[in-house]
Amino acid sequence: MPASRYISRLRISAFRNYQTGALDLDARHVVLVGPNGAGKTNLLEAVSLLAPGRGLRRATFDELGSIGSEGRWAVAATIETPDGPADIGTGAGEADGPRRVRINGANARAVEAMSAYLRLLWLTPAMDGLFTGPAADRRRFLDRLVTTLIPTHSAAVADYERAMRQRNRLLEENADLRWLDALETEMAALAAAVHFARADAVGRLRQIISEIGSDLDFPAAKLALTTEVGDESQPASSANFEAGLVDAWHRSRAQDRAAGRTLRGPHRVDLEVTHAQKQVPASLASTGEQKALLVGLILAHAQLVKSATGIAPFLLLDEIAAHFDPSRRRALFTALDALETQSLMTGTDFSLFDALEDRATRISVRAGRLSEWYESVPSETYELFHEAMSKRQPITCTYDGLRRELCPIILGRTDGEERVLAFQFAGETHNGPVRPSGEWKCLRLASVQNAELGTGKWHAGEQHSTTQTCIKEVDYDVNPDSPYHPRYRF
Ligand SMILES: Nc1ncnc2c1ncn2[C@@H]1O[C@H](COP(=O)(O)OP(=O)(O)OP(=O)(O)O)[C@@H](O)[C@H]1O
Ligand SMILES: [Mg+2]
Repeated sequence: MPASRYISRLRISAFRNYQTGALDLDARHVVLVGPNGAGKTNLLEAVSLLAPGRGLRRATFDELGSIGSEGRWAVAATIETPDGPADIGTGAGEADGPRRVRINGANARAVEAMSAYLRLLWLTPAMDGLFTGPAADRRRFLDRLVTTLIPTHSAAVADYERAMRQRNRLLEENADLRWLDALETEMAALAAAVHFARADAVGRLRQIISEIGSDLDFPAAKLALTTEVGDESQPASSANFEAGLVDAWHRSRAQDRAAGRTLRGPHRVDLEVTHAQKQVPASLASTGEQKALLVGLILAHAQLVKSATGIAPFLLLDEIAAHFDPSRRRALFTALDALETQSLMTGTDFSLFDALEDRATRISVRAGRLSEWYESVPSETYELFHEAMSKRQPITCTYDGLRRELCPIILGRTDGEERVLAFQFAGETHNGPVRPSGEWKCLRLASVQNAELGTGKWHAGEQHSTTQTCIKEVDYDVNPDSPYHPRYRF
């Protein structure tokens, strides 16, 4: 079933390498394909700012603005919901101030307000080392999951961390003990909010993972939170928990002062993940197994958010397909369909998403520009020219009634029309026989007749020094260092 809640319209401006960007979508998944550095992850990052927090790169808001641009960065989306469409948006605020949030044309006081319409989860290549890397990354990952379930969690974590830094400063300055007492009491309340939200989310996630079971494609994860907080692993109540922390912090002041930081608290907790079937810590699983575990975890969490809030989270999956074999890719797409949500996926090649068939809108990204992908079936002539290029064999054909011998150099489309930029080295032109040094020709493939593979020598011509304007959407370029961002490589 298609998603009942989806992004139908996305607009970004002055964001990273985009001056402006616009997508108009239906409920299907969205596939973004483009070469390295095109702006795929940037677009995902833009969408990730439609949730509380600092987005999928944890960038400062200054970094998000397009370098050299006058305007302030902005991201806006229309979300289709069962109750009708809603417009949400965010963007740079005043210097050093918080970001602006707008909902249905009015300013919103808190970023969490967007979560009433849209929930987000993401998976990026930067998370590949999650299970082997530092605990801080896993904690952040966990907090991300919790925020998708409880939108205020992100702010609670930030408040707790701010209070903790203040405690470290007070310790360093040997401040009045009454200040410390007051601050530690306040910190304990914030710590409890953070801790119980995490523990509750992990408990519910465990439950849903056991209900879903596991399969070979996406193995089940066993989850546990380490207990760096208080002495009891399962404190009975928030009051107990807070009292335990206040007491621990009170007693560890000298030690914390010497260390220059607070040694205990929810900021030290780790999320322990085990590969359930194999009974090995995720950190010891293979690279592919770790990726599959992570995907399984995200899918299970999406399911949890959907059943707990009624809002299936939108998924941002950066380069998700690249590391999976075709059968696992197919399993992923099937799992995404089952969630009945829209997901935005990126890759460097459209063929990675073939198994999605017509279940996705395909978008080309090049140098910060988005364009709809024409999914036309290549003509026989196109296929023949492609073969000639990959084998480096010339073509003989008739064009405008004249016989030509040429080598195709760039193949693609302009406004949906198949074209080739070719180097003609023999035969006729409108001005008589072709010049001995050869001539560059831009041909519409629909007008090419009697095309055959030739057997002669390959003539690449000298490097064309002027920028070609024959083909807007370059599919293939025989030049491996093509400046035209060809969609495919030989
Ligand atoms: N604030 C900014 N202003 C302008 N350009 C920026 C800004 N920040 C990053 N960029 C540029 O945006 C470009 C695209 O980055 P992005 O990470 O989106 O590429 P990508 O398509 O995901 O590539 P890859 O396939 O390598 O992951 C990079 O070349 C980067 O230098
Ligand atoms: Mg990227």
